[in-house]
Amino acid sequence: MHCNHNIKFALISLNFLNLPTFKTNYNIMLRSHNCGELRKKDCGKEVILYGWVQRTRDLGGMTFIDIRDRYGITQLTFSAELNVELYKKAKSLGREYVIKASGTVVERSNKNFQIPTGEVEIIVHSLELLNNSDNIPFTIEDDTDGGEELRMKYRYLDLRRNVVKQNLLIRHLLAFETRNFLNQFDFIEIDTPILIKSTPEGARDFLVPSRMNPGQFYALPQSPQTFKQLLMIGGLDRYFQIAKCFRDEDFRADRQPEFTQIDCEMSFVNKEDIYELFESLIGHLFAKIKNIELDDFSVMTYNDAMKYYGTDKPDTRFGMKLVELNEFAKEKGFKVFDDAEFVAGIKVPQCAYYSRKQIDELTEWVKRPQIGGKGLVYVKVNDDGTIKSSVDKFFNEDDLKNWANHFNAEKGDLLLIMAGDKNPTRRALGELRLEMANRLKLKDPAKYECVWVEEFPLLEWDDVTGRYYAMHHPFTSPVEEDLSKLDTEPNNVRANAYDLVINGVEIGGGSIRINNRDLQLKMFNILGLSNEEIENQFGFLMNAFCYGAPPHGGIALGFDRLCALFAGTDSIRDVIAFPKNNAGRDVMIDSPAPIDEKQLKELHLKLDNLQ
Ligand code: AMO
Repeated sequence: MHCNHNIKFALISLNFLNLPTFKTNYNIMLRSHNCGELRKKDCGKEVILYGWVQRTRDLGGMTFIDIRDRYGITQLTFSAELNVELYKKAKSLGREYVIKASGTVVERSNKNFQIPTGEVEIIVHSLELLNNSDNIPFTIEDDTDGGEELRMKYRYLDLRRNVVKQNLLIRHLLAFETRNFLNQFDFIEIDTPILIKSTPEGARDFLVPSRMNPGQFYALPQSPQTFKQLLMIGGLDRYFQIAKCFRDEDFRADRQPEFTQIDCEMSFVNKEDIYELFESLIGHLFAKIKNIELDDFSVMTYNDAMKYYGTDKPDTRFGMKLVELNEFAKEKGFKVFDDAEFVAGIKVPQCAYYSRKQIDELTEWVKRPQIGGKGLVYVKVNDDGTIKSSVDKFFNEDDLKNWANHFNAEKGDLLLIMAGDKNPTRRALGELRLEMANRLKLKDPAKYECVWVEEFPLLEWDDVTGRYYAMHHPFTSPVEEDLSKLDTEPNNVRANAYDLVINGVEIGGGSIRINNRDLQLKMFNILGLSNEEIENQFGFLMNAFCYGAPPHGGIALGFDRLCALFAGTDSIRDVIAFPKNNAGRDVMIDSPAPIDEKQLKELHLKLDNLQ
């Protein structure tokens, strides 16, 4: 194709999602139009279309082909009466053959209002077969018959389907608008290296053996964290990068071993400055891509999130907050409650009608190992005002009425109560709350609630290793007024860190950083690193702190999670062009894979321990 400088762009909206995008004027290219753009106003035009055969239908003497490309589907018409050769050729085409068709746009007598081109068809006078196709392993339609594993193996075919294509379009627009926005606010995009150095904090690293340095390894970055801090020390002030990150951790629907962050860092800012800027960015993305004006973001402490939602990523679109019951439930002779550190519950609206069987099923649900509940107590506030519970033996009607009042329960409500150690019970109730919201369809997909969660503990104690870990990462600064507690009560020090949570999904996290060498040293010491380890692993950063490190802070948004939120899917695999499966495998290219003896030798590696 020749290069030309005359391509005109015009704003259109794609039929499927009303996404703004740009349209090429194809007049000066091989094709005159794409397969999604012809309308009634184009009748009479001579056009050239390229695309794939979605399907052929023969009605005896007339053959119709749906030709499909990225933009849509157009009907091609062939009549035996007009041109019998062409008609036969059209009839012989199979699904996914690549064709070129030239013809005249005419108005259809039998219109299809389901698709934007459905009022017209092309009477074809020239048809060229450009490539044929084997039988496809699954149908390339919105409702495909292919299972996930099969579609992953043939991902290039899956990409031809609308849903997958639309998701990639959303991803593109999010990246495009993010760059646009951050550029306007003086951020510069800087790429940081992929071959870096292993550090023990955080998840496991992916390692790359170095041929030139026998026995030594690069690590792939878990995030560009230290580099972005060095950029601030380098005076670059406002940095961003749509960065690839690599973490060798267990995979879930919202986790991939290789994922993408919108990674940002700013100098001379406080937490509030960061909130303001990133609220504007998120607001901009929702306005541009979804045409939605967001409500104000709320701010919640970590303690409140745990207390009321049982999680540090609260979905605030619905109520059912956790209600603590210790003062009402203990010392009444019910051993389960008396022995427990913590008793609390949720009020499920209008579910007092639940049958014994339904409650039993919920009880089994909370006892699953993933939830870890020991059992479930119910209290039904019946429509006639009477109260029925599974602990009637231990609590009289007045006790239970007190509970109901404490929960603000109304007639018809169901209280579900759990007991045990505080943190696990809160977590389990948090899960039960989400499960009940799913069952009762309380998660409004059209609603977006954004919450900053802040004042996380700086440190987490791990009983197994007998040491503290940084809850966010070791570069996070403590809240100023808690600094003095670092020596005396480190587990009560709050971090100057924040997460951005939207509809219960942790979309991003960040912090104001330590920029003082001594404090950073102290932090590493608290985390159990010796001075020698600090020098080996973070010497470069400690050195940089000697040369005027400005106050700085930042955030990284999980780009895949953001795309999934915009695409309305729970799995980030749906918004990644070539994702890995749950076992971390790319089943299309069949990776990871063994390497041959020669490569191993070159890398000075021996696999003695493997089979
Ligand atoms: P953090 O580890 O919280 O912070 O990561 C930031 C965001 O990245 C997303 N995320 C993931 N997405 C998909 N798959 C994964 N395996 C995965 N892990 C994380 C989440 C998360 O909120 N350097 C710091 C940021 C900073 O302090 O500025 C960092 O990486 O949405």
